[in-house]
Amino acid sequence: MFLRNSWYVAAWGEEIGRLALLRRILLGEPVVLYRRTDGKPVALEDRCCHRHAPLSSGRVRGDNLECGYHGFTYDPSGQCVKIPAVDTIPANARVRSYPVVERHKMVWIWMGDPALADESAIEDFHWLDDPGWRFKGERLELPGNYLLLVENLCDLTHLPFVHASSLGTTAIPPKEGKLETRKEGNAVIVERWTENVPVTSYFRALAGFPRDAVVDRWMHLVYTPPAFVRLDIGAALAGTGARAGDRSNGVTTRNLNAITPETDKSSHYFWAQAQNFGIDDPSISDLDFRLTHGAFLEDLKMISGQQQNIDLDPSVPRVNIATDAGGVQARRVVDALIAAEKSGTPKKIAPVPLTP
Ligand code: FES
Ligand SMILES: [Fe+2]
Repeated sequence: MFLRNSWYVAAWGEEIGRLALLRRILLGEPVVLYRRTDGKPVALEDRCCHRHAPLSSGRVRGDNLECGYHGFTYDPSGQCVKIPAVDTIPANARVRSYPVVERHKMVWIWMGDPALADESAIEDFHWLDDPGWRFKGERLELPGNYLLLVENLCDLTHLPFVHASSLGTTAIPPKEGKLETRKEGNAVIVERWTENVPVTSYFRALAGFPRDAVVDRWMHLVYTPPAFVRLDIGAALAGTGARAGDRSNGVTTRNLNAITPETDKSSHYFWAQAQNFGIDDPSISDLDFRLTHGAFLEDLKMISGQQQNIDLDPSVPRVNIATDAGGVQARRVVDALIAAEKSGTPKKIAPVPLTP
């Protein structure tokens, strides 16, 4: 069961070509993506209304898409406009067409009621467009439900365990620093500060802090439904006022995550790591990307194991502790939105800025 009246990321813009058709299962539905002659992306149901062949096995003809089986041809609205074998096109010969918007280097899709698709509700990922930031990102295949990854991101006390050999040494120890979780509207915010701590190898490598530097560190996470998790993570020389808002003696990175369900048990994981320093030096964003990529593969392995156990018996209860608050609240938000949608009163989801 998915929330349908919401924007999701369907693809990175660069994944969608003009003629090469991209098939992607999103929210349990087959979707084919391509570009019109003017470059605008199109998303159609990837299931020909004739014999259900995938249209992604067909050909782009101008702005239209021709099925590779018997040549039914669809325009970008999903209407069948040509059937080579007959002169008359049946009135019901059409496939679904989904509203799509290209923004922040990603193509966003609306899989609910098209009349409710409102571009102003697209979540803020502007760092991917902002000349003051440099980023590197990718799509990973997540062998698990999207909310397992939301929980993972909302509870970073897993770092010293899952990422013992990668990010472990950069983790804030589980009991260090006060963890604050709060809900604002549909957003869940998790915040943590640790002050006067030795700088970790991660920030030394990225930002060139001296080996013996003492820093204040922050982690500010915002979850917005259905599955966006954006983190502001940074460190500044201790005692230079970072907590009061002066970050001039520190560095900030953004970890930006958009998770789109493929099925109940698998997801598309779009993520990027962005920095506002060293933006003329690609080796910094490469290093940050490499470190995070390696860590995320470790997360996906763990989530795959969780999903297998859930599949064996979904009824087994789970034990929650205080650090689960973010993930628990995120699930509640999604459940409430799905319930509203089912009762015929879908709620609008407003984007939430990620402010330090
Ligand atoms: S299945 Fe597409 S034209 Fe026959
Ligand atoms: Fe992780």
